[in-house]
Order: sequence, then structure tokens, then C-alpha cells
Amino acid sequence: MFEELFERWDGEEAVVRYDRESGAWMFVCVHSTVLGPAGGGTRMRVYPTPADGLADAMKLSQAMTVKMAGADLGRGGGKAVLAVPELPAGEARRALLLRYGDLVASLGGTYRTAGDMNITPQDLDVVKERCAYVYGTTGGGGNSARGTAIAVHAGLQAAAEHAFGSADLGGRTVLVQGAGAVGADLVTLLQADGADVLVSDVDEARAEATGARVVAADDVYETECDIYAPCAVGGTLNADTIPHLRCRIVGGSANNQLSEPADSKRLHERGILYAPDFIINAGGVIQLVGLEDRGWDEDELQRNLRSVGDTLREIFGRGGDPADAAEQLAAERIAQKRDEALT
Ligand SMILES: NC(=O)c1ccc[n+]([C@@H]2O[C@H](COP(=O)([O-])OP(=O)(O)OC[C@H]3O[C@@H](n4cnc5c(N)ncnc54)[C@H](O)[C@@H]3O)[C@@H](O)[C@H]2O)c1
Repeated sequence: MFEELFERWDGEEAVVRYDRESGAWMFVCVHSTVLGPAGGGTRMRVYPTPADGLADAMKLSQAMTVKMAGADLGRGGGKAVLAVPELPAGEARRALLLRYGDLVASLGGTYRTAGDMNITPQDLDVVKERCAYVYGTTGGGGNSARGTAIAVHAGLQAAAEHAFGSADLGGRTVLVQGAGAVGADLVTLLQADGADVLVSDVDEARAEATGARVVAADDVYETECDIYAPCAVGGTLNADTIPHLRCRIVGGSANNQLSEPADSKRLHERGILYAPDFIINAGGVIQLVGLEDRGWDEDELQRNLRSVGDTLREIFGRGGDPADAAEQLAAERIAQKRDEALT
């Protein structure tokens, strides 16, 4: 079963380790190091089978390569999965994370980790006891939601400029789906612009706490607005929802917003400008790499976060489906680096 997955995957290398003591499988997938060391978070999850965990790590590592290339950070893409029989707690969790730290350390910096599903900054502190290549610890680059929201905001301004001829979001109606860490910060930035902000969250109290006008979670896809900003979960753009959308722009922080690749064409055909998720939501990695590796001050951080808007201007300027244009931009950056290395 693993062999089939490796045949289909186009990454550089992967490490598979079975951890007898916990029954966990550790998968570290280094998809590409052409642009630099492979960066990407570690996900801890219970999967139906170990192969599902490996497949997830492979798919996510590929997406990280494109995301890192778009963010232009001198980083490649990778991802790790700890496929556990059940989520461990206490000493067992600590022991597993220490052994995982040893594994990442043994790769000598080829793969550099941060948090993902079920991995907290406190967990990363434990991994860091054994390994230097860890981002997003409690003493690290801080809450990445802040950087993510700033970059999404810059991306929405670029999208507004392309769609409406002005980057000014004042007076625009923006529907933010998800009033969590990123969504709530984004609402604040939009309110400061003078935008008419609508917000929706399955936890209505969270939505209300933002002070924006609340839309029921079920009504999001039928609500008229200029911009729909998915900041909750993936898969909200699909064959069922896209025909109902009454917006001109889609752009938000959620990962994997498209249910399937064809959804970006569906949006394009409906005349809806889509800011590809892996470009507009790169603020978190930009913040972590900038603060932890590059020693940026606040001005440099802000400038780099807002450069996500420039990347989107370039992508929109290419015409056609922006998801294709973004993939193309990433592929070009990787090909150029590969050529430089050969000459
Ligand atoms: N935090 C980051 O730095 C970062 C970076 C890149 C991408 N993302 C992605 O952005 C999204 C939001 O991240 P976050 O850190 O704000 O997460 P979060 O968990 O803090 O917030 C998510 C919010 O969405 C709400 N929600 C869940 N399902 C919903 C639904 N169907 N409709 C409306 N609301 C719903 C939750 O109640 C919660 O308030 C996630 O998809 C995440 O993967 C986050």
C-alpha cells in the first residue's frame, strides 16, 4: 500500500518510522528543497489506516511547496504526520514528541516543523528540547493568526483593486465566515477601513463579539456581498455552493477552500475573482520565518505580510483562472532556481 503512494507522489524523500512504544506512525514528507529547506507543520491525528496518514502528509507537503514558492521565503515544502492510535496525553504524549524531535533532528534541517492540527505551541516546546528546527514554540514568532489576517487584508485590497478599480475597502460589504483567531482580527482590520462587515460563525457568540452584523451560518452562500472571506473550514467552495454565491470576490484564510480543482474554474466562469488560498493565507509562515529566522522588526514584518497583495496583483494580472496562474507562478520560481543551480 505504501509503495503505490510513493509511485504517485512526486516529492524528494520521505521518512517512515513506526514507534513501537506508542503504536504511532511518523511520516515526514520532504516534497521539495529546491527553494530551500522544506517547511511545513506537524499534524497529529487518528487515521483509519497508516496509509491514510502517509497520503495526507504527501498531499499536504505538495501544497506547502506551492505555498512557500508563492511566499518567496527561500523555503521548500514539507509536512509531517503523527498517525496515532489515539491522541496521547501526559507523559506518553511528551515521550512521543521527544522521540519525534529526535527524528526531525536526524534530518539535519532538511525538514523544519511548526504546528498543525492537534499540535500546540507547548507540544512544539517539547519537540524543541531535542531539535533545533522548530517554529511556533511558546517563545517563538507568536500567534501566527495575526500575520495571517494582515496578509489576507492586503490580499483583499489587491483583489478589490483588480475587480473594482480601487483597493479601498471602505463601503464594501465583506462577509467573514469564521470569527476565530484569524477571522476576528480580519473583521477588526476591515472595520478600521470603514467596510460594511458581516460575520458568521457556528458559535454565534463569537460572531456577536466582533461587533459586526451577524449572518446565520446556513445563509452565508446566499448572502449578497462584495467579498466573501472564508476563514473557518475548508471545502466551502464546491459545486453546490458556487452557483448560489452573490459576491464578486472570494478571499480568506481557510486552507483547501476548493472541494476539487474544478471549483476554481466554476468561480472563474461565474465572474467571481478567487484569491487562491495558498497565496492569500501565507501570512502565518511569513511571520514565523521572518521573526524566528530573519530577525525582522515590526516594519519589515508588516511590509512582507502586505507583499502578499503584490503577489496577488501579479497573479490576477496574468488573466484566466487565478488558481492556475498561482500554480504557474510557483512552478516558474522553482524552475528558475533549478536552472540557476545547474549553471
Ligand atoms: N491561524 C493561522 O495562522 C492560519 C494560517 C493559515 C491558514 N489558517 C486557516 O484559517 C482558518 C481559520 O483559522 P483560525 O486559526 O482562525 O481557526 P479558529 O479555530 O480560531 O477559528 C475558526 C472559527 O470558525 C468557526 N467555524 C467552524 N466551522 C464553521 C462554519 N461551517 N461556519 C462558520 N464558522 C465556522 C469556529 O467556530 C471558529 O470560531 C482555518 O481553516 C485554518 O486552517 C490559519
